[in-house]
Amino acid sequence: MLVLGIDTSCDDTGVGVVRGRQVLANVVASQAALHAPMGGVLPEAASREHLATIDGVVGEALTRAGVELHDLDAIAATRGPGLAGALLVGLGYAKGLAWGAASPFIPIHHLEGHVAACLAEDAGRGPPPEPPFLCLIASGGHTVLFDVPEAGRYLRVGGSRDDAAGEAFDKVARLLALPYPGGPALAALAGDGDPGTLPLPRPMARQHGFDFSFSGLKTAVAVFLERHPDASRADVAATFQERVVTSLVDVATRAARAFGRDTLVVAGGVAANRALREALAAAALHVHLPPPGLATDNGAMIALAAVEQVRLRGVPDQVEALAVDAAPYLPLAEGPSRPRDAQAPRPHDAAR
Ligand SMILES: Nc1ncnc2c1ncn2[C@@H]1O[C@H](COP(=O)(O)OP(=O)(O)OP(=O)(O)O)[C@@H](O)[C@H]1O
Ligand SMILES: [Mg+2]
Repeated sequence: MLVLGIDTSCDDTGVGVVRGRQVLANVVASQAALHAPMGGVLPEAASREHLATIDGVVGEALTRAGVELHDLDAIAATRGPGLAGALLVGLGYAKGLAWGAASPFIPIHHLEGHVAACLAEDAGRGPPPEPPFLCLIASGGHTVLFDVPEAGRYLRVGGSRDDAAGEAFDKVARLLALPYPGGPALAALAGDGDPGTLPLPRPMARQHGFDFSFSGLKTAVAVFLERHPDASRADVAATFQERVVTSLVDVATRAARAFGRDTLVVAGGVAANRALREALAAAALHVHLPPPGLATDNGAMIALAAVEQVRLRGVPDQVEALAVDAAPYLPLAEGPSRPRDAQAPRPHDAAR
């Protein structure tokens, strides 16, 4: 099945082409330079930039994949969650393209796209993850844990009570005067530092649940830098990164144990982090991660999610699919879930 996928949920215009689980092309036009002077994404500017670049990015993805528009079996796009105006561009473009090419249109949940990145076939990678598994999504907008008892079912078991992990990386990068986008820059600086020396707190260290909290750690970094202006920035970066990574890995592995899962799928932009990947390699679980280049927003992951959706549920009804609107807020979880031996139900909020 040959599918073109489009993601314009935030500030990257991503277009990918996949054949089954094989990624033929993955073109991402980053808007980082446009938003850098603001230190964050300006939604209106993001929409306009998507509009200006999407046609060229689609053309380049088709060329790189060596396929023509009429070869495609389906066209997929992110429907949400994300920035409303940005989503509208990719969604509207994909619907029009599908309509014009008489190809089925498949709307995709952005977070399902992040998870589907782990399905990509890649040299040296084993078979794809098979449910049941536990799934951690750690990105710029989300840090959430799902139990996935069967393909396509997401039961929320915990998540961040404040900042997402990627958001915390970006905010602390700003405190360290690192260039936008901050996450990868902070990770690079952390590589030169010592994570063992500074007195930064361990978030939610004594909880029995499966939540995260990163804004207190961020404030602790701000206070520390104010009191110790001459401290090694690399050590601060390394210690902050160690605290985030340890929190993610500890809570995810504890949740996997509580839910009786021996497989952990980790997705989202923070899954690109090398320290996190190294810590996960030491966990006593079968860990699945997206290949490098598919962790942060891209179109190939949307195409991979579409292939998976068709495999599970067939091609969607086209009257319904073409009527799907952009959904800035769109929870993925379908309802509450409890560890196997839990006594009392725990509150469960939306996927965000
Ligand atoms: N190597 C890295 N180390 C740490 N964080 C990283 C790294 N690479 C990317 N990130 C972070 O990942 C985030 C971007 O990921 P992604 O593109 O999945 O998020 P998003 O699309 O903005 O959010 P969402 O998917 O929740 O809507 C940013 O916050 C970025 O700082
Ligand atoms: Mg994303």
